[in-house]
This record gives sequence, C-alpha cells and structure tokens, in this order.
Amino acid sequence: MAKSTLLLLLHLHFLLLFISSSSAAASRPAFACAPESPAVSLPFCGTSLPIRARVRDLVGRLTREEKIQMLVNKAAGVPRLGIAGYEWWSEALHGVSNVGPAVRFGGAFPSATSFPQVISSAASFNASLWEIIGIAVSDEARAMYNGGQAGLTMWSPNVNVFRDPRWGRGQETPGEDPTVSGRYAAEYVRGLQQPYGHNRLKLAACCKHYTAYDLDNWKGVDRFHFNAVVSKQDLEETFNVPFKACVVEGKSASIMCSYNQVNGIPSCADPNHLRNTIRGQWGLNGYIVSDCDSVDVLYNNQHYTSNPEDAAADTLKAGLDLDCGSFLAQHTGSAVQKGKVSDGDIDAAVTHTVAVQMRLGMYDGEPSEQHFGDLGPNDVCSSAHQELAAEAARQGIVLLKNNKRGALPLSTANLHTVAVIGPNSDATVTMIGNYAGVPCGYTSPLQGIGRYAKTIHQMGCTNVACTGDDQPIDAAVDAARQADATIMVVGLDQSIEAEGRDRESLLLPGRQQELVLKVAAASQGPTVLVLMCGGPVDVSFAENNRMILWVGYPGQAGGAAIADVIFGAYNPG
Ligand SMILES: *[C@@H]1O[C@H](CO)[C@@H](O)[C@H](O)[C@H]1NC(C)=O
Repeated sequence: MAKSTLLLLLHLHFLLLFISSSSAAASRPAFACAPESPAVSLPFCGTSLPIRARVRDLVGRLTREEKIQMLVNKAAGVPRLGIAGYEWWSEALHGVSNVGPAVRFGGAFPSATSFPQVISSAASFNASLWEIIGIAVSDEARAMYNGGQAGLTMWSPNVNVFRDPRWGRGQETPGEDPTVSGRYAAEYVRGLQQPYGHNRLKLAACCKHYTAYDLDNWKGVDRFHFNAVVSKQDLEETFNVPFKACVVEGKSASIMCSYNQVNGIPSCADPNHLRNTIRGQWGLNGYIVSDCDSVDVLYNNQHYTSNPEDAAADTLKAGLDLDCGSFLAQHTGSAVQKGKVSDGDIDAAVTHTVAVQMRLGMYDGEPSEQHFGDLGPNDVCSSAHQELAAEAARQGIVLLKNNKRGALPLSTANLHTVAVIGPNSDATVTMIGNYAGVPCGYTSPLQGIGRYAKTIHQMGCTNVACTGDDQPIDAAVDAARQADATIMVVGLDQSIEAEGRDRESLLLPGRQQELVLKVAAASQGPTVLVLMCGGPVDVSFAENNRMILWVGYPGQAGGAAIADVIFGAYNPG
C-alpha cells in the first residue's frame, strides 16, 4: 500500500473517531418525560404547569417502596413511569470535581478548569470574583451533564467556619471570618445555581456541613464521634452565619448536615436545627442531605439510637430529605411497619428532592432541547475560563511582607539567573488542593518563573514532610549562592493537611525551616519566601526574610500567578 493511501486512511479513521466522540458528547438520554416515555402526557411531565403541582402529581403516583428507594444518593428509577435512576452526588468546590461518583472525566470531557482552592479565592475579598467563578463552573458542569458525565446537584461549597487552625479541611473553606464566609456562600451559590424563569435552576448547590464542624481527626478524636459543645450565641454569631447567608441570600437548593453532634444531638437528627432553623426560620427552598453515611454513623458509631428504625425515624422526622448512603433505603420500610415513620414523613422528603430535580429541568425531556442544552465540550477549559483561573490566583495572593523599599517586585534587568528552591517549587497537583478534578493543564511555579528569568532549580527537600538526613539541602544552598536572586516555595500539601488529617503542629514540616534559613543565609541577592498552604503556618522564625507571599493553593495556573506577582505584572499590595 502506498504511503499516501495509508496516511489518508489513517486520517479518515481519526476523522471518524472524532465525529463519533463529539456526537456521543451531546447525547445524554433524558432523565424523564422524553417523547417516548410512557408518562409523557401525565401532569408531572407538563412543562407549563407549576413545579409544585407537577411534584404533587408525581409523588401521588409513587408506591411507598418506590419512594423509599428515592431517599438515598443512588436513587432508584421508576421504569413504569419512564424515570431513570439518579446519582445525587456531584462536587464542584472550585471547578468540576470527580470526588462525587456522578462525575466522570474522559472522552469528550477529559478535564475541567481547576480554579484556586477556596481559601485562596476568598483571600481576594472580591465578592464579584466569587460569583464569576461560580458561573464558569456552572457552565462546565452543565456541559458535562449534557454529555452524560456529571450530575446537576453539586454538594459544594464547604462554608464551615475555619475556627480551629489545625483542621485539615480548612483549605476548602473561605476562612475563619463568619461574615466573609457568608458573603462567599451567597455569591458562589448564586453563580453556581444561576436561577432563571419561574423557580428554575441551572445547577443545585449545597452548603455544607451544618454545623460546628472543624475537626476531622486529631490525636484520636474524630468527626464521627465528636460532640461540639456550642452556646446559642456562638451558633448564631459564628457557626451558622454562612449557612444562613447561603439559604437566605444565596437561595441555595440544599444544605448538608454534618457527622458530628452539636450539644449531644447528631446534626442530621436534630429537628430544632433542620426543621425549625434551616427550613422554618431561613425558608430553605430545597432539600437537606446527610453527609455520606452519617445516618449509619449516628446509629452504628455514635449509638445514638438503639435500633436502625429509630435512626431512620429520628432523621426523617428531624427534616432530613436525602441520605448519602444506603441506610434509609434499607431501614425506612421496617420503620414504617413498626409505626415509627409515616407515609407523610416519606412524602415530605421525596417532595423536597423531586422539586429540586424538576427545577433543574430533569422532567422536561431531552437535555439537548432545554435551557443550557447547547453547552458542550467547547465550554469546558475554554481560554476565558483558564484566564479566569489565573486571574483568581493573582487576586488571591497575599503580600505578607515587603519591608525593604523597592525589593518587590523583582526587576528582570541585571537578573541573569534565579534560584528556584523548595518542596513546592515545581508543584502541580499540590496547587489544586482537595475536592479538585482533572485540571486543563498546570503552570508550576518553576515554569511561571521561567517565563521571566533563567532558573536554577533545586527542591531542597524531597517532599513537604522533609524528614531524614538525606534531604538535598546543600544542593539548594549551592544554587542560591550561584544565582542573582532566590525564590523559595515551601509549605504543605495533602500529606500534611487533608480530609481525615488534622495537623498537630503549625510550623513548617520537618526540615523546611532549616532549608529556608540556610538558603536565605547563602543567597546572594533578594530572597522571596512563598508559602503554599491551606491552613495557617507559623513563620515567625523567618522574620528576617524581607519578602513573604502567601499563595494558598492557587489552582491550575498558580505558578504563572506567583511569577506575575513577583515580577510586577500584578500588584498584590
Ligand atoms: C474582582 O474580580 C473581577 C473579575 O476578575 C475584576 O474584574 C474586578 O476588578 C475585581 N475587583 C476588585 C475590587 O479587584
């Protein structure tokens, strides 16, 4: 076969592959009420009727067992009514994330824009930025839903007040200030949900984890057993402020209750909190979901009730609508038989969840013919979204110190080489923190700095833990000696602070402090210390360092933003 024919065939082959993958991307089957559905002419499929009437019609047609199987995140379908099963669990904390099982990267959607971790975006103190990020994430999530690779119910954001600096999940939150956290909650939720029409939603957000949760696992005390003892005043003035703003101002379609107990009652079983406060006082228009397996946890780990039926009854009667887990699907039936749960309790829960699905358009037939039906692969990782991720990273960077006049920004004139040092100096996945997805691409600090100057790179520590005698500190010291300026990128990563992992020390881990001191002493020119971490780090040892930047976990474009700040393309002051 002639070479050109072979090439032509290969070319055709790729063309066909391309065509088939792009058409697959636009072909999510309808969730319910497609033209061929057996229920298409029933009132619940009638798009011109009010949501409330449609929900009442549907719930009235369901058997008790069908409804019970809808009380869990992996909700069963109802084939006789043409309703598909639904996985409620998707996440979009700072970009579409694959932590939730409904999101799948690959095919036409290999990645999504990874914005800075929330602690970083929050540090911009720019409320309009938070909403704009929410809108971009919403576009990407809805595009992935249209392509069959994501759900529409995002269990984000995390707005627990980050009061305890040891908390491994503090990075996910807007920080320790209740007012800032509340504003963040309202703005991000507004962006994510983009309400339209009569009570319609583009996505459903969920503020979590209600309430008084900022401990994961500290010296054997874990979130599954912790009882937060909190005064009414502290709840009102601190812990509940972001949740109230989320519901009242952000109009969030959901709240998630936490694993821990509050004053001796599991959050997910407290009618005073769920039914009275969230739904009653704040007027939640949406559903309350448990943290994953927290109904199981309050029975099996906390032994809050003596039998599973009481656990089902206590949570449903408290106002829980959806169980992330399988407990309510397993035990609600026998709870009804024992007279502990009524059909009315089940109807109330299903009415709340189905209403949110209807507001999202899930009972309106083909996704491609609905609002947002034209969002597709081109709307994910678009250049506009990637530039927004870089802009958010720049805005989130905090200049902690620059006390010698003119030291920062560095000038590239007369700068031949820059030593780039530290365990996070070439960070990629560390920059996106937790509850992330697959980013469109990364610019590491080393790459970002390399756009401005010639670099000499030395890690100094093999990883952020930086323990043991064989750490390459001497090589880093040599690099600093040879260069005209030194940039050290130190800090933490998920091996130090994470879900299930609180810190026992607020200092830099292992020998990082020694690295910083030795490198600074050897450095010939200006020395910039960059802290990449979610939770706070005590750097009082570095008070002689003239230039210190805090960058949080700055997202996929973090390294470019760090370099833009250091070299003066963006002013963090
Ligand atoms: C907030 O962010 C937006 C989007 O990047 C930007 O246009 C605006 O100037 C920022 N506001 C402030 C006060 O920095």
